[in-house]
Amino acid sequence: MVMQDGVPPLVGCMIGPWDHSFRALRATGECVIAVPTVDLATKVVEIGNCSGADIDKFEAFGLTPVSAKKVNPPLVAECLANFECRVKDDSLVDRYNMFVMEVVEAWVDPERKERRVIHHRGDGTFIIDGRVLDLKKKMVKWPAYVQ
Ligand SMILES: Cc1cc2nc3c(=O)[nH]c(=O)nc-3n(C[C@H](O)[C@H](O)[C@H](O)COP(=O)(O)O)c2cc1C
Repeated sequence: MVMQDGVPPLVGCMIGPWDHSFRALRATGECVIAVPTVDLATKVVEIGNCSGADIDKFEAFGLTPVSAKKVNPPLVAECLANFECRVKDDSLVDRYNMFVMEVVEAWVDPERKERRVIHHRGDGTFIIDGRVLDLKKKMVKWPAYVQ
């Protein structure tokens, strides 16, 4: 989730301590958040039902690692967007498993045709991005947010 959209950009991520990702993030203080689109949905769920402690997920799911610019973990070439992150604040981890991370580099694939992302409803079902509702004219108090 977005925690600050200013400078620096911050995101919050709740990661279960049973996950390999949790241990890796604790140990290195770095990660890449890769944003998949709807065509990858089945793969996303399969990836979330196994552990990087047991298998190489890039190899097992035919994904392509690409070197990041500022962090050690790789980007995922097949994803629409990739955010290179560094842990900024781990004071909420013991209590809530919540990592506050600074996005130090962001990538979006301009070539990708499928751009609809998916939103997990918590039970294995997903909402897929759909119609755009344009209410820009009503954003009178927030001109900086309207492009
Ligand atoms: C759709 C889906 C959503 C998930 N969301 C989260 C989440 O928000 N936080 C979390 O810790 N685990 C989540 N999980 C579970 C992890 O993805 C799962 O434990 C995975 O095996 C962790 O892999 P790792 O051990 O390589 O880190 C989710 C799983 C699925 C299938």
